[in-house]
Amino acid sequence: MIVDDLLHGNGIYAETNSGSNGNAFMYAKKGYQVITNDVSEYSYSVANAIMSDNVPTEFNCKYEWLNKYSDSYIGRASVFASVVELYGYNAEIPSEINSELEEKINIYISYFTKINNEKVRSFKSYNEDLFNYLKKLKEEKINVDIMFMDFAWPWRDGSKTEEYNTTANIYSNVFEKSKIANIEIWDKENVIDNVIKAVKEAKKVSKYVLLSNQSSNYPTPEVLEVALLKNGLNYDIRHTMLTDAEYEDNLGKESFFREYLYVIRGDING
Ligand SMILES: C[S@@+](CC[C@H](N)C(=O)[O-])C[C@H]1O[C@@H](n2cnc3c(N)ncnc32)[C@H](O)[C@@H]1O
Repeated sequence: MIVDDLLHGNGIYAETNSGSNGNAFMYAKKGYQVITNDVSEYSYSVANAIMSDNVPTEFNCKYEWLNKYSDSYIGRASVFASVVELYGYNAEIPSEINSELEEKINIYISYFTKINNEKVRSFKSYNEDLFNYLKKLKEEKINVDIMFMDFAWPWRDGSKTEEYNTTANIYSNVFEKSKIANIEIWDKENVIDNVIKAVKEAKKVSKYVLLSNQSSNYPTPEVLEVALLKNGLNYDIRHTMLTDAEYEDNLGKESFFREYLYVIRGDING
């Protein structure tokens, strides 16, 4: 609703942390030009599996069994998705394959192939730390209409989300030599400074920056809003909606929480 109201069906929709790539896929399907970015190998493989005809060019598999799946992003994404589904987000890739895993991978290969056959295509896809990505867009003189930012927010108690450490760092050398060295997942100590810096950098290449947050994260909306205002980042609009929680944990997530979306005007005009 927000994106369509701002773009009226035309323009470039980009993300800094595209994760599942579900939003990007939806906007690409609607006819927008989409740019995805995520530091995670898993996310990057999914972006290419569902929205591109690209094939990997680098190969250096951690275990022998992975070779069979390494020459396509559909294969790579299917390995990651299967391991996560069967063994959880923090599981390492097993050194050997078993029949349960093999069956699951085949199911995912069919699933991603079906999506790829819809021929929905992204404009560009990056696999960078978000600050490098924003720098690259600037260097490549790519301006976007919307930059959607849904960071790897820490939990409510301020601790970092460990699963992103797995997908960003542990998974980075599964199919290739590690491209990304030691990504720091944000916690209470650095999240606000990084968010302010990221929004400022994003404004330089965007017409609108859309910042997403939840009441179940740290910083809570009130803390975040004060930080934004203190740094001269005034938002034009603040949308909120009540959401059912994805899952229960012991880190202060309520069964319902509120999603927030701040619309901040970028520096690009016209
Ligand atoms: C909350 S999720 C985004 C979810 C996404 N909005 C979706 O719809 O699936 C945060 C994402 O940030 C990524 N991430 C963590 N640190 C990053 C960094 N420094 N640069 C880019 N992406 C990062 C994680 O891999 C994760 O996919």
